[in-house]
Amino acid sequence: MLFEPFRIKMTEPIRILSREERVKKIKEACYNLFLLRAEDVMIDLLTDSGTGSMSANQWSAIMVGDESYAGATSFFKFEETVRKITGLKYILPTHQGRAAERILFGLVARKGMVIPSNTHFDTTRALIEFNEALAVDLVIDEGKKPSVKHPFKGNMDLNKLEETIKKFGPENIPLCMITITNNSGGGQPVSLENIRETKRLLSRYKIPLFIDACRFAENAYFIKKREKGYENKSILEIAREIFSYADGCTMSAKKDGLVNIGGFLALNNEELAIRAKNMLILTEGFPTYGGLAGRDLEALAVGLNEVLDEQYLSYRIGQVEYLGNRLLEKGIPIIEPTGGHAVYIDAGSLLGHIKPENFPAQALSVELYIEGGIRTVEIGSVMFGKKEESGRFKPAPLELVRLAIPRRVYTMSHMDYIADVAGSLKERAEEIRGYRITYEAPHLRHFTAHFEPV
Ligand code: F0G
Repeated sequence: MLFEPFRIKMTEPIRILSREERVKKIKEACYNLFLLRAEDVMIDLLTDSGTGSMSANQWSAIMVGDESYAGATSFFKFEETVRKITGLKYILPTHQGRAAERILFGLVARKGMVIPSNTHFDTTRALIEFNEALAVDLVIDEGKKPSVKHPFKGNMDLNKLEETIKKFGPENIPLCMITITNNSGGGQPVSLENIRETKRLLSRYKIPLFIDACRFAENAYFIKKREKGYENKSILEIAREIFSYADGCTMSAKKDGLVNIGGFLALNNEELAIRAKNMLILTEGFPTYGGLAGRDLEALAVGLNEVLDEQYLSYRIGQVEYLGNRLLEKGIPIIEPTGGHAVYIDAGSLLGHIKPENFPAQALSVELYIEGGIRTVEIGSVMFGKKEESGRFKPAPLELVRLAIPRRVYTMSHMDYIADVAGSLKERAEEIRGYRITYEAPHLRHFTAHFEPV
């Protein structure tokens, strides 16, 4: 029997809007869910990033935050916790994940360089491309097929990685990333064996391995449950082994840090760490606070310890799996098995009558809002589709709608409501129409694009 392993001490009201109001609100937002006001959303599954609930222990830690500009006690608690988990030498706090990425790629990425990953998250890819380097995704083939079951669909394809190294030359690959769990690929985990083998291959070519560690604890839980030899290891032990193969990591602590803001860059290379620290001072803040307040570092130090709790992770992964199963019962195609932080509906197959250039996943996410006030995010051709130089439209490999579950926020009855809303949409799937873009920005267009129905 699965239930939330916590009691709720503080509540936030949810405003219930009528269907007519929702139709009006989404039209005013130019059919872009990012442009809605949060108060007009009933269940917010836009992201699991920075949207979690903090524990009583985290809130009490906030009160002892040391706000000293330099040498704050809170920094040392944070640093000690990150070092306990990662074993990495130099630890730089940043205001969120992409700040760590910006510093890292600003130092190592430039024209002619290639940065492979299992799958780069959108900010990671955008920052690499912003520095004029090439970002390549090398996840195993199983990871691209929504209905194929595999315990570690986030794994790196080692053959493709070696081909990439040979094709571009190791001297043009400043580092390789592994994203755990593989967010853009469905929140799917990477096995320890795969991380170890990736490291072994990279070592032959002297290429450093960096981990995009946002959801490291969820990934570690999957390893414990699915990988032979790890059943009796603690989450901390598994995490330590993961990071033992890394030369560095970037982390958006807004996920498995269980905080609303925060991140870090951690690395072993002293020379690179010094350059990163200088950039940190220039753009984020003094190295003992980065872009954060002392109280944020306190909450993060507590959160990073709480996330290692297996009971919490069992509930967390169990809740996501529960929603996935409820959707499957209703015949809604999802990426299987469910990942760590989200359920991904395969909109390409549910709305097969909408062409990729009319954004089936965007259409589905708009309908989920109109039908039930649920806000989700499109991970398809709005986010990753491209116009080629010939003017031809190149769709994303998958048309997905992500239902990201904030940590410790919604209950099982919210999950039932979501599944019921999606179920009633399925009944009238053929009526759903696509969209076209009327405005887009040059980078990360999904955040600000405007749409109109076709
Ligand atoms: N890497 C991954 C795998 C992520 O999922 C994110 C953020 C980042 C890096 C960037 O971190 O937002 O703190 O700057 N993902 C959020 C999401 C936004 O909704 O999946 P950030």
